[in-house]
Order: sequence, then C-alpha cells, then structure tokens
Amino acid sequence: MCHEGGCGACIVAARIPAPFTNELKTVAVNSCLVSVLSCHGWEILTVEGIGNRIKGYHEIQSRLAKFNGTQCGFCTPGWVMNMYCIYTSSAKKLTAAEVENSFAGNMCRCTGYRPIADAFKSFAVDADIKLTDKVIDIEDLHTFKTCGVECKKKCVHKINDIETDLSIIGISNETKEEDWCLLNNEESLTISSANFKWFKAYHLSDVFKAINNCSDYKLIAGNTGQGVYHVVDYPFTIIDISSVAELKKFTVDVNLIIGAGMSLTEMMEVFLKMSTENKDFFYLKQFFDHVDLVAHIPVRNIGTIGGNLYLKYLNNIFPSDLFLLFETVGGMITIASGVNTVKRISLTQFLKSDMRGMVILNVMLPPLSTCNLVRTYKIMPRSQNAHAIVNAGFLFKLKCNTDVIQNASIVFGNISSKFIHAQETEKIIVGKPLFSEETLEMCLKSLSHEIIPEEEPTEPSAAYRKMLAVSLFYKAILSLCPDSRFNQRYRSGGEAIKRHISQGTQVYDTDKSVWPLNKPVPKIEALVQCSGEAIFANDLTTDMNEVFGTFVTADVTPGSIVKDFDISGAFKEPGVIAFYSAKDIPGDNTFTPANMSLLEFDEEILCSKEVKYNGQPVGIIVANREKVANKAAKLVKVKYELVNKNVPLLTIKDVLSSPEKDKRITQDTVVEPTEVGNDVKFVIRGELELNSQYHYHMETQTCVVKPTEDGIDVYSSTQWPNLVNIAVAHCLNIPVNSVNVIIRRVGGAYGGKISRAGLVACAAAMVTHLQGKMCRFVLSIEDNMKIIGKRASTLCNFEVGVNADGKIQYLKNKYYQDNGCSKNETITGMTLSHFPNCYDTKRWRIEAYNVLTDLPSTTWCRAPASAEGIATTEYIMERIAYVVGKDPLQVRLSNMTLEDNPIPELIEQIKKDSKYDERVTEVNRFNTDNRWRKRAIKLIPMTYELFYIGPYNSVVSIYYADGTVALTHGAVEMGQGINTKTAQVCAYTLGIPLEKVSVKPNTSFTSPNSYATGASVGSECVAFATMKACEQLLERLEPVKKKMGNPTWEELVFEAHNSGVNLQASYMYKTSEPVKPYDIYGVVVLEVEVDILTGNHDIKRVDLLEDTGRSLSPEVDIGQIEGAFVMGLGYWTSEKLIYDRKTGKILTDRTWTYKPPGIKDLPADFRVYFRRNSVNKFGVLQSKATGEPAFCLAVVLTHAFREAIRSARLEAGYEDQWVDIEYPCTVENIFSAVGHKLEHFKLHFILQISVSHCKMYFPKHLKIAAGFTGAAIFGIVFGWAMFPAILKSQLKKEMALSKKTDVRQMWEKIPFPLDFKVYLFNYTNAEEVHKGAIPIVKEIGPYHFEEWKEKVEVEDQEDTDTINYKKVDTFYFKPELSGPGLTGEEMIVMPHMFMMGMIAIVHREKPAMLSMLGKAFNGIFDNPTDTFLRVKALDLLFRGVIINCARTEFAPKAVCTALKKEAAERLIFEPNNQYRFSLFGMRNATVDKHVVTVKRGITNVMEVGRVVAIDGKTEQDKWTGTCNEYQGTDGTVFPPFLTEADRLESFSGDLCRSFKPWYQKKTSYRGIKTNRYIANVGDLANDPELQCYCEAPDKCPPKGLMEMSKCMGVPMYVSLPHYYDSDPELLKNVKGLNPDVNEHEIVIDFEPITGTPMVAKQRVMFSMQLLKTEKMELCKDLPDTIAPLFWIEEGLSLNKTFVNMLKHQLFIPKRIVGVVRWLLVAVGGLGALACLVFHFKDHIMRFAVSSDSGSVTKVNPEEIEQKEVSVIGQIQHPAKID
Ligand SMILES: Cc1cc2nc3c(=O)[nH]c(=O)nc-3n(C[C@H](O)[C@H](O)[C@H](O)COP(=O)(O)OP(=O)(O)OC[C@H]3O[C@@H](n4cnc5c(N)ncnc54)[C@H](O)[C@@H]3O)c2cc1C
Ligand code: FES
Ligand code: FES
Repeated sequence: MCHEGGCGACIVAARIPAPFTNELKTVAVNSCLVSVLSCHGWEILTVEGIGNRIKGYHEIQSRLAKFNGTQCGFCTPGWVMNMYCIYTSSAKKLTAAEVENSFAGNMCRCTGYRPIADAFKSFAVDADIKLTDKVIDIEDLHTFKTCGVECKKKCVHKINDIETDLSIIGISNETKEEDWCLLNNEESLTISSANFKWFKAYHLSDVFKAINNCSDYKLIAGNTGQGVYHVVDYPFTIIDISSVAELKKFTVDVNLIIGAGMSLTEMMEVFLKMSTENKDFFYLKQFFDHVDLVAHIPVRNIGTIGGNLYLKYLNNIFPSDLFLLFETVGGMITIASGVNTVKRISLTQFLKSDMRGMVILNVMLPPLSTCNLVRTYKIMPRSQNAHAIVNAGFLFKLKCNTDVIQNASIVFGNISSKFIHAQETEKIIVGKPLFSEETLEMCLKSLSHEIIPEEEPTEPSAAYRKMLAVSLFYKAILSLCPDSRFNQRYRSGGEAIKRHISQGTQVYDTDKSVWPLNKPVPKIEALVQCSGEAIFANDLTTDMNEVFGTFVTADVTPGSIVKDFDISGAFKEPGVIAFYSAKDIPGDNTFTPANMSLLEFDEEILCSKEVKYNGQPVGIIVANREKVANKAAKLVKVKYELVNKNVPLLTIKDVLSSPEKDKRITQDTVVEPTEVGNDVKFVIRGELELNSQYHYHMETQTCVVKPTEDGIDVYSSTQWPNLVNIAVAHCLNIPVNSVNVIIRRVGGAYGGKISRAGLVACAAAMVTHLQGKMCRFVLSIEDNMKIIGKRASTLCNFEVGVNADGKIQYLKNKYYQDNGCSKNETITGMTLSHFPNCYDTKRWRIEAYNVLTDLPSTTWCRAPASAEGIATTEYIMERIAYVVGKDPLQVRLSNMTLEDNPIPELIEQIKKDSKYDERVTEVNRFNTDNRWRKRAIKLIPMTYELFYIGPYNSVVSIYYADGTVALTHGAVEMGQGINTKTAQVCAYTLGIPLEKVSVKPNTSFTSPNSYATGASVGSECVAFATMKACEQLLERLEPVKKKMGNPTWEELVFEAHNSGVNLQASYMYKTSEPVKPYDIYGVVVLEVEVDILTGNHDIKRVDLLEDTGRSLSPEVDIGQIEGAFVMGLGYWTSEKLIYDRKTGKILTDRTWTYKPPGIKDLPADFRVYFRRNSVNKFGVLQSKATGEPAFCLAVVLTHAFREAIRSARLEAGYEDQWVDIEYPCTVENIFSAVGHKLEHFKLHFILQISVSHCKMYFPKHLKIAAGFTGAAIFGIVFGWAMFPAILKSQLKKEMALSKKTDVRQMWEKIPFPLDFKVYLFNYTNAEEVHKGAIPIVKEIGPYHFEEWKEKVEVEDQEDTDTINYKKVDTFYFKPELSGPGLTGEEMIVMPHMFMMGMIAIVHREKPAMLSMLGKAFNGIFDNPTDTFLRVKALDLLFRGVIINCARTEFAPKAVCTALKKEAAERLIFEPNNQYRFSLFGMRNATVDKHVVTVKRGITNVMEVGRVVAIDGKTEQDKWTGTCNEYQGTDGTVFPPFLTEADRLESFSGDLCRSFKPWYQKKTSYRGIKTNRYIANVGDLANDPELQCYCEAPDKCPPKGLMEMSKCMGVPMYVSLPHYYDSDPELLKNVKGLNPDVNEHEIVIDFEPITGTPMVAKQRVMFSMQLLKTEKMELCKDLPDTIAPLFWIEEGLSLNKTFVNMLKHQLFIPKRIVGVVRWLLVAVGGLGALACLVFHFKDHIMRFAVSSDSGSVTKVNPEEIEQKEVSVIGQIQHPAKID
C-alpha cells in the first residue's frame, strides 16, 4: 500500500544466510523495500506458500481466521507472514509480551487489532488460558517445505541424492533441505543493463574496486532508507554491500566494535548479550530497549547501522536514534576509503566529513564503569513505529561514590539540523552535585536557553519540542535519583509510559434456537483472506499488453487556470505510452453524474480549467510499468494561464474571516426550539473545532479495466458499483449495459470509496477505451491522500443557559461543516439528527451551514456526522458539569429524554460491569500518589439514530444437484462481514446449514442499480432482501414438500427442479419496506493514564456496552464495534492532517507523517458487551447495525484526557479552570494543555520533619503515670501478643516476592557469588581402558569459580500472583581459590563425552549406522585412536573443545548437520565451520531461554517460589506420571516457618526433576539456629515414587543413579559424587573413587523461621557408559562400565553481612523485645504506681492530716500548656506543596 515500510501489507518471509555460518535464518521483510536483485541467495516465502486451500492451511492462518482477526483482509497476509517469521525463528517459544511487541510495522484499519493480538498471543508459551481454550480444531502446523526457487549454486545441503537415513541423528529429510545453503559466496557478482549496473560485493576489497571503477554510484545495504527518504533517481551503478563479510562482524577488545553492515536486529542481540555478560556495557540494555522503538522488526531485520548513520549524514535533521545513542556515550565511527585506509572519528566529525568514495566500517562503543549513569528516551506520536518527536540521551559521569558530576553528555535529536549536544549545559554542570535542586534549576534554565528547535511543518511545534527536551532532562534526573533522596510521588515521572500486555473480553448472548442466525461464526472468507487467496481488484492476473495509468496533478494554488502541458520530459522515460487531458475524454468530464442521489454537482475527472484544490488531477500518463508511469507523471509540466497568488482558504475559520465568506457559506437548516426554560443560573459560551481524518484504507483507490467483446469489465474497488457503472458509461459515452462492473471485495473503504472510487474508475476506463488495452490504475498513498477528499471538519459555536443543576434552559448551536471544493455529499443535515444524542432537545436551537473550502471535496468517513454531532453534545455536557460543579453523569441524566430511553439503565449496567465507582476511587488514589502520572476515568452515553438507504437486491440460486445455494447481492463486502451475515440469514431462512451457502461477487449484471454500501445499514438491507428472496423460494417449494411428506432438503430441491420449479429468486429491498428507523444505544467507560511530562498516554481499560439487537452474527459485530472504536481513538489522538498554508498542498501524505493507531495503541484491557436480551422490533430479524456507532463513543477519551490534565494543573498550582485540549489530542496538544513551567520541575527532596504539635492539658505527673501504665500495658500486649503476630505477618509480607522488598531483590539477583567448584576425573590408564581395563581415575580439582546468579526479564502477573523470569548465571574463574597449583591449563584425559554420547544414541536407535559414525569421527576428530579426550581443563569447562566441521566428506558433514540442529544450544559456532563444545561455556552469562513461572506468595506465602510452569507448560513431558510435575520451589527461595516434619521441595530445571530434602538434625551457623536438610538421588528401581523417572521399573539404573537422556538429550548419569549413597557395585568398576559423607553429601542448613538457606552444598556427579560394541572399531574392547567424568559443587554460605542483616531484622528485635517486654511491665508498673502516689498525695495527705489545715496547691493551666510542646529534632516548617 505505502511502498515505504510503513504499513506492513507487503511483509514476506525471507530465508537469509546468516553471516559466517550461512545458516538460513527466517526473517520478515517488507517486500516493498527490497530490490529483487538484493534477494540473491535468499529464499522468499509468501503467504500463499505457507498454507492454502490445496495443501491445507498453516496453523497461523487458521487461527487468525478463527479469532476473526481479518475483516477486509487487505492487511492480513502481512500479519500472517510477520507472525510466521517470529514464530519459526523463535522455535515457537514466544511469550505473549514478545508477540504483542512484534507487530509495530503492521497496520490494520478494520479490526482494531484486538482479535489479531489474541489470535497470535494464543501461540505464546504463556498464553492466557482464555485464548488457548478458544483454540480448537486447528490443523497441525505445516512445516516449511521448500522455497520453490532453484538454487543455481551447488548447495551442500542437497543430500537427498545420497542414500542415507539421517533421522537417526535427529534430522528429518525436510530439515536437511532447509537449514543449509552454503553458497560459495566468495565471488562478487555483476548484473548490467543499458540503464544500470548492479554489483553485489562480498568483500570490502570488491566494494572499493567497484567504487573506483565508476564515477557515480550508490551503496545499498538493507535498502530500507528509501522508506524514509524516497529515492527517485538511482545512479547508474548500485553496489550491494549487504553481504560484505567485513561489515557484518562484531568484536570486543576493551571496546565493543560493531560492524556497520550488521542489521539492527543483529545489533540488538549483541546489545542484550553484552549488557548481561559484561558489566562495563550495562548501558546496552537501555540501548536495546531504545532500539526496540526504532522502526519495526521487518525494517530492523535488514536495515543496517551504517545505513541509518548515513541517512543522518545526508539529512542532518533526521532524528536517527542510533546516532543519538552512540553519540551519547561518545562512540566513534570508522570510515574507510580503501581496505587499509581507515580512520576513526567522532560521530560529529563524521557528519562534517567528505564521504565520497568512503564506506562506514564500524562503530566503536566504550565500556563505562558504574560511575556513569545513562538514560535515553524517545517520544513518539504513537506507541510504536514512528520517528522521534524528540529523542534524548544523557550520560553523567560521577566522581566515584559521590553524586558530583565529572563529565556529562546531553544529546537531543529532532531539534534542528545543527543541534546535537546541549554544550552549555554540559559545561556548567561539571563539578555540581547531580541530585540537587540548584543544579536542576540551573540546567533547566540553561537547556531552555540553548535548545532552539527549527520549525518543521510536519513536525510538532518548536515550542513544544523545546519544552519536551527540557522535560526529558528532568525525567532523566527523576529516574536516576536514588529512592532515598526524594519524594516517591515523583518517581513515576522518570519512567517512560509502558503498555502492559493487552487483553480483551467479549460478552454476548446467543440464541441457539435460531442458529445459524445469531451464531458466532468466523467470517466466511476469513481463511482465504489469511492465505492471500482472496482476490482484490489489483490481484487480477497480469495481461501481456496491460498498461498502467497515473494521474498528473495540478500541484498549484487553487484558483489557478490550466493552460497547457509540456510532456516532453515525461516522454523521454522509456516505457511511456500516452498522455491524456480533459479534452481526450470521449463523454462527460465528470465522475459524479449529477442525476444520482447524494451527488448534485459535477466534479471533473480531469481539471479542464480552474484548479479547485492543490493536487487535483489534470492529466493521465500511461506507461508500460507502474513505476515508469509514476515517475513520468512527475515529469509532466503543467502550464498555467494564471497562477493564483491568493492564500487558499483551507479551514472553516479561513472562510469565516475572508471576503468570500458570503459566497462560500450557505445555510442548510435551522431547527427552532419548542420551549424555553427560565431558570438560567449560568450562561456558557464556547467554540469547538473538530478536524478532518484520512480514511487510511489499506487498499488505495484502485481500478483495473479490461476490454471485452461487448464493452469493458471494470474491477473497481468501490462501495457504489452503480455509480461506477453510470459514471464510466457517461464519461466514455457508451451504453451503461456495456460496462460490466465486478467487485469481489474492497480492501477497506470506511466511506472513502462511495463516490470517490468513480474518479479512478473513470480514468482507468478511459485509458482502456482509448488504448484498447487492459489498464491498472492504483493510486500511490501520496496521490490517494492528495487527490481524495476526507472527513468533513466541523466548527461549532454554542451558547447554553443552565440552571444550578446543569439542566439546559436554552441552547443555541451554530455549526459549519467543510464541504471542500464541492457541495456533493454534504453531511450537515445528518449531523443535525445526531446532535440530540440521548437528550431532550425541545429547548435547542440549531443552525447548520455548509462551507466551501479549497480542499478536495470532503466525503463520508466512518460515522460521518454522527461522530461530530455526538462529540459536540457530549462536550457541552462536560462544560455544563464543570461550570455548575456537578458530577457530569448527573448533568447528563438530568438533561436526558425521559420516555423510552434505555440509556440510564445501560449506564447502571456498565457502571456495574466496569466497577466504575471503585475505580474512580482507585484513580483518585493513584493521582494522589503520583505527581507526573495522572489517570482519569470517564463514562459517556450514545444514542445513534439509524436510517435506511437503498435499493439493494439479492439473488438466491439453489442448485438442485446437491442442494447447495449461491447468492449475490447489491452491496459490497469491504470487511464489514456483509457476506457472512447474508449467508447466515439465507441459511436460517431456508433451514439449511451455513456451509451450504456461498456468496458470489457483486456485478452490475446481477445487481444493477443498487445504492452505495454505507451508513452501517447495508448488511441489514441486504439481509432483508435475501430473507425475502428465500421466502419466495420456500413458497415455491412448499407444494412439492407437501406432496413429498418429509423430504430432506436435497430430495426436496431435486424433486422441485424436476417439477419445473424456478430455483432462483431475487428481491430488491427499497426504502419503502416496512422497516423503521431505530436508535442504537451505547455507553462506554474509559480509563486513561497520561505521562504528564511527555504527553504520551496509555488507555488502561475500556468497557463498551452496545445495543446490537439480536445480532445477526455476534463475532462479526464485535469486530465492527472494536474496529470502529479504535478508528475513533485514532481520530481523537494521533491522526493529524497538515496543509501548506500558502499553497494548500497536503504535507502529511505518507505513513511517515500520518499516524493512525498501531497494535500497542489499543486499550490494554478492551471489554465489549452486547446489551443483554436485546431485540429490535423495527430492524431486520431483530438485529441492529454496528459498523459505525462505536466510533462515536471514542470521544470519551478526550474527556478523560481533560480530567487527567486538570488534576496535573491543579497540582502545578493553577486555578481550577476549564482547559481545552486542541483536537486531535496529540502528544503535543496534551503536553501543551498542562502548561508546564520550568519552576514546576523540582526534585522535592525528603525533609526530615518530626514535629509534634499535640497539646495536652493533663498534669505532668499524671501524664507520666499514664505513660508508665501505658508502657506496662504495651509491654504485655506488645511483647506477648502483638509482636509474635506482627513478626509473623511481617515475615509473611517480607518473605513473599513482592516488588521492591529485600527478599525480592535478593531473589532476583543474589548479591554475592556462590562457590562453584568443579572436580574432573583424569583417566590415568586411558590406553588400557581402550583395551578393556578397569578405569583408574584421579580427581583433579576443585576448579573454583564465582557464580553470580541473576533473574532477568522478570515480569509480575498480578492476577495469578506469579512471576515469569529467565535465568542468567555468570562464572568467574578464581585460580587462587582452586586446588593447589591449578591454573586451568592442566591436560585432562577423560572419555570423550561427545563421541561416547553419539555412539550411545546411535547404538540405541540405529546400530547399523555405527560404522558411518566411525567414518564421521575420523573426519571430525582427525582419525582418533581411542574414545578419549585430551584437553585443557578450562577448554573443557568454558573455552570450548574444537569440533572440526569444515570437512566436506559426506559422513562428517551429515553428523555436523545433526549436531548443528540438535545441539545448537550447547555449541559455539565459529567461522569456517568450526564448532566448540564446552561444559559450561554456552551457559555462561547467557540468558537461559526457558521462561520459569513461580508463585510470588503474596496471597499465600507458603507458596512462595513454587514453580507453576516452565515455558508456559504446567508439566514436563519428559517422564511419566507424577515425575512430570513441578514440585516445590525453584531452589532460590523457600517458604518460611519450616518445621522438622516438613520435606523441602525444589525443582531443578537442569536435572528435570524435583528433589525433596528431609530434615536431619539441628545445627547452628554464625550464632543462628538452623535445621539441616539432606538429599540424595534415590533408588529409582525400588522407590515407587521415583519409578516414573525410568522407562519401566526393570529398566531403572542402579541405586543412586539417574539416566538423563530424556532430560539432557545426552546419555549421561547423575549421582552423588564418588557414587556416595549409591549401589556399591558401581565402585567395583572404577578405581580411585572414595565416597565420603562430609565431602559428597547434599546438605542445606536452613534458618527455619524465614526459610533462609544459610549454608548449602549441592553436589552432583556426571558419568557415562564406556559402551562396548563390536560394531565400532573404537569401542569394541571398552569395559562397558559406567565411568565418572566430573562432579560439581554449588556452595553457599551466607557471609557476615547477610547473617547480620538477618540477625538485626529478625533475631535481635526478637531478643530485644523479649527483654524489653519484661522491663516495660516491671518499670511501667512501678513507675505508674509512683506517679499516682505523687499525684494523689494531697488526697492521701487529706486523709492523713485534718481538713482545716487548708493549704491547697493551685495549678496554673497556662503554664502547663506552654511547657507541653514536645519537639523531637529541629523544628522545621512543612514543605509547601506547589
Ligand atoms: C518505516 C521505517 C521506520 C523507521 N524508523 C526509524 C526510527 O524510528 N529511528 C531511526 O533512527 N531510524 C528509523 N528508520 C531508518 C532505518 O533505521 C534505516 O532505514 C536503516 O537503518 C537504513 O539501513 P539500510 O541498510 O537499509 O540502508 P540503505 O537504505 O541500504 O542505505 C541508506 C543510505 O546509507 C548508505 N549506506 C549504507 N551502508 C553504508 C555504509 N556501510 N557506508 C556508507 N554508506 C552506507 C547508502 O548508500 C544509502 O545512501 C526507519 C526506516 C523505515 C523504513
Ligand atoms: S510496508 Fe510495504 S507496502 Fe506498506
Ligand atoms: S482487515 Fe486489516 S485493514 Fe482491513
């Protein structure tokens, strides 16, 4: 559609050889960006290739169809192929979050994305159970068979012809074909023609050779740059550098050097790896996340680093994210003018360099210590796939252990072509503390001074970009500032807004008694749409002689006069055939014949004189190819008699203030009020400006016309075939019956193809008519946006008088609607009928006006008029509520019509369903807790008045031979599901299964004279016509049926045919039918969160209730509602049209500049409900229309925005004023409405305020007494009752894995290393063992490593109280802690695990192949003399043992292929087909691919850490029965409150089983009492609980051993070291083993209250069978014993710090409380007594002395009062809240 990588409709799968290994990787690419010649060496797979009607559908296709993820289907192949690629390349192991994140490049205008997201997320390993439940009856996944492209080079993978069976080593014949294409890619390649020379280079030297041999050339890498900056003219020589080896690699010396030819995807992989492996590159994780927002996966798959940087070089204003990131950290770039002439320069120098003859070689990124703080941001107009409005990178180097800045790098993008660094700020910040209010204030001022953005018409304003940049600096400081330093209300301001995984719910009733009517079924065309078999106009088979037409446009100010054309330039282009202008039109020069309804005025096909709008078609270029036609059209020079110098009038306001006002504005209607109220307390006046919108149908305006013997066949993408029929006939001056209009389907329309399709159809027909050839006419997106009119914009001026409750006393509304340049299709009258919404309008006066502007004639666009009408009314309601200070809902209710209005009931329903009241409270709480994030929740109602249009016919034919039925109708299928609904109605009326009905294309022969399909009502009308046609048929069948008794349908129609019954019937629905207009009701609740510092937002939840009557097809209606609502969200947020004010030229005419919502913009939680038990007594079969109304509800978002902004403004100290956000509510408009000022950006450090102002009036000693008593009581209550309970409940909280707790942090990343020790067994008599001797082993070790354990990609699932994570273990060798003198360089001799492993597998599976395996070993291991490995210890452990797979003989190659396939995770691949194998190397610092799901224990702490799933599966499939269960925790956390009776349980992923250590004895560790637990492997044969780990009980290994083939894929055994606690027989077969309880037992000492392991030693030994077999020379004499290889100990002993932590947090308080409670009781009791005695001494004395002695002590209350201010610490004043 877009030809620039912006829409995703063209995505295909490419299998591209990976650099160095040549392994074919399946990646998605945008075919529109890839030149055919770039595909050399690739395999391309299109959607038809993965599944179709013939070979069956791929699971992705069928699931998407089943989930109703397709409507018009134009975008669908692109979605399917992107999913196919990510799914296959991830080996089907995707998480739901990964799925949802991977479709940034796929647009869909119809569905609203929810069903697509659901369909694809159902493939995720952690798929929501609701989704997986939905998946039934889906075919098996069909594997990728062959690319179908013949590979001319000799592919080494072509081993079909060699007679062998490789399945034994794990590869099927299919995979043999697939995985390898080892092309000999050493030689460069040249393809030449008269017009170009294509040069494909593989080496840098070839590139320079090519450069030096030509004067003008262009390098091409991924070729995606043309998606950003269109390349119109390519030079003669193109040098394809996408396969140049030197550009593809990355290396790490101290720096990270990444090849410029690496794709962005490859670069991201490196970033992720490096950031986890090397702490000096920690910042690359930030970079990874940032690059995830660059373009989208298909572009990143082939777009390169060099290409991106060069785009920045050529266009300095380009907001390159790569440039920004690299420059932030001071990266350097290497450029070369020859193979050995290279220079390394800074990126800023690069921008100024002369790059002629130069190639970018690589980029170098520095390591950064942890004293460096890095933050980067990218702010976009929508969630994904958009270039940055502003991007920013911050690097602060701090003096270590301080926050004093040593150095700073502050970089911003998209400011101006010159601006890179905020240099002034970088300078002044040095030496200052980063986290200080003064530094912040100084920097903000400085930034605001030095950032001076350039105005760029298609970009947000300079003022916004400046303030946004400043705010990003503040954001970075907020995010970096340590928690303890500032008020946490500000913390969320530091984070970028992030969408959670979306989810959707659809709730509707279905009445089975009327099925297939009202039955939820997928669209009947869904499968063919998902497989690309569905035909659109442009899919018509190519004709040898076909030509292409393109418009020449008048790109001039409207009002200019066309005189002539200079076509000489165009005709120089080879392939140009003809040029036509208005005078060549044989008939009427109009595509809007005025005698048709809706169209009153002629609009010219080709402008004959006065240009009505900039971009109006004036001519047609015809050429032999589309690209030639497009290029030549631009070369036609239009000559003008007059060029209008006046500024065009582009908006209603322009017209209102122009002298032409009276000429251009006409009054349409005035509605007078029937009553006026007189209780006016408030008068509100306002103005509301609603904008235009581009339809963004994925199929642009298209028509293909073919000459036929009786006229022409017109394949038009139109919503109104009859208009095309008549307009084409009139323009060609031929009879209407010679024009055959044929429409199978339309690729999205939304009203844009009702009248406007006629333009392209007339143009194409004219070319065919004049040329006598088939003509294709497909508008480019730029032409489509330029030529075709859009949604009419609206301006309202209103005045409303209300009483104190907000009830309207009078309302005057004057509104104007933009017609564009013609008054065709005016919508003012319709808008009028939608203003009322659900309100009482008796007191309303409405005036409607039409306005002519200098834009293309506006046209219908989804919910035209209704969206504007309802939006205006709802705006007025909100204004009233604000002014009278009432709840907007209350105001709405008080203005509603009382009779026959179900809206109040629906409001109650949705409030209940959405938990509205609770969430309002929750939103308020959130807003109190967050300064820079604000939420709002809003509810609005809708009453949508539906009216009927027509006529539409329906023709139903029954085939007597089998009783199947076909129908065709007068409406057009454009995604709204009209065919499905009609088929359901037909099947229901005839009483036959839906499968028997098929729907045929609309043609002008079968459905002449039909009306346009639109206004949501087409489906209803056609359903009516179909029902009536079916009733006619039933009537005709009735006598036959009566005669036959009780025939089957098939028997009945067979007999009827034989009796001469006409089995075809037709009926035409007309507006006079007895169906009545009705209202469609709806209500919506929406909650949004706004990032106040950027203007970005996230729609957190939408609950939408719509009255669909009794839906004809519930799933189809759900699709309509969701799609319409999301299109509405786009209208109100990101879709903005911009025109050049001087010329009227549209500037936002591409996917790069016009941004409808993408998949991550849909509501995160989208719930749609149909009104319960609803029927529609007026509509067809009780249903209601659904196509448009939900669009009108989307305006609720604007009110939620306003509320969120209001909350932010109040906090900023603004008065509570009504604030208008300019529409659309773009990030800029939201941000600007907040009214940010520099002084708002503060850190708000925490102040230590502890002032007590409490005043007490008790006498001092009484108070003291009270205090003492209180203390005593407190001592008792606290010490004996509260403290243990508090401790327990506190522990429950602390021990759960809640976010931000210490336990959670330690669990995520153990803050100290574990001791990882490895002991290797050296075989001292290998030669003898080879000949059959008993092995003699010597244990060498320990090799001591520090093991750092971390969990990454940690994600919480609140609803299930679980966490998902992946593991990363990093090892560091510590020779100083290893066994004496061990350096890792010792030579070890031990059985060759690889050889022995393969021998064991082949021996077990296919012994006949053992001799071939022997041959393979000779090649790979260089003719080994025995099966022993002689290797350096560290090579075996980490660095890797070489496996030489460079051999070309068959046997080694086959084995290597199998290795690569089956053992890829355990091998390191190096150039030249050298593989390396090591025991731990692949695991080291590598994120384990498995996703572990464990319980957090928040709801039940005893479940903490319990493994619930791995990779989304709740059980393993390795063993049988209970052995597959995940029992226990993940081994890194255990539940608290352990008792001696408890058996601990933990699941080991490495060993695929659970262990259950048992209590042994009490122990203590560093003064803390502990319980000791021990464990072993068990006796599998004799323990019934463990037998399920064996194939059968009699096949279990000896006691203490467990066979691991099923777990590890390698036939190894695990046991305790030295066969401790194992079958003693094992020891007899090996010499040198000494089992010892202290050395070899598994022990863990737990602190029982918290469940903390204090000391642990987990030990396990690995052994292998020295298999004796005659079938292999190397093994024929082996002793056949199970021989040990190595053992490991993973040890933990909590160091003093952590033991102290535990003591202080738990035991010391416990002890102190123990002492204090007694003290409190004792002292408290005594103290109280003393005070009471003192206080009552007078009374006591009174008893003691006589009453008349009379001295009474007076108390002066004032004195006491004064003394009783108790102050702790210094008095400070509370911080002011601004
Ligand atoms: C839809 C879309 C969205 C995008 N969004 C973003 C975005 O958000 N942020 C962003 O930063 N970028 C974005 N981009 C740009 C994208 O990153 C670049 O298109 C891509 O990286 C270019 O790489 P390439 O290999 O395809 O270059 P090509 O198109 O092959 O080449 C581009 C230019 O670089 C030259 N060139 C290529 N390699 C070298 C070399 N090694 N030495 C010298 N010159 C060389 C070529 O001659 C050509 O002039 C987007 C692109 C598209 C299509
Ligand atoms: S992305 Fe290729 S056509 Fe739009
Ligand atoms: S189904 Fe996606 S654009 Fe129509």
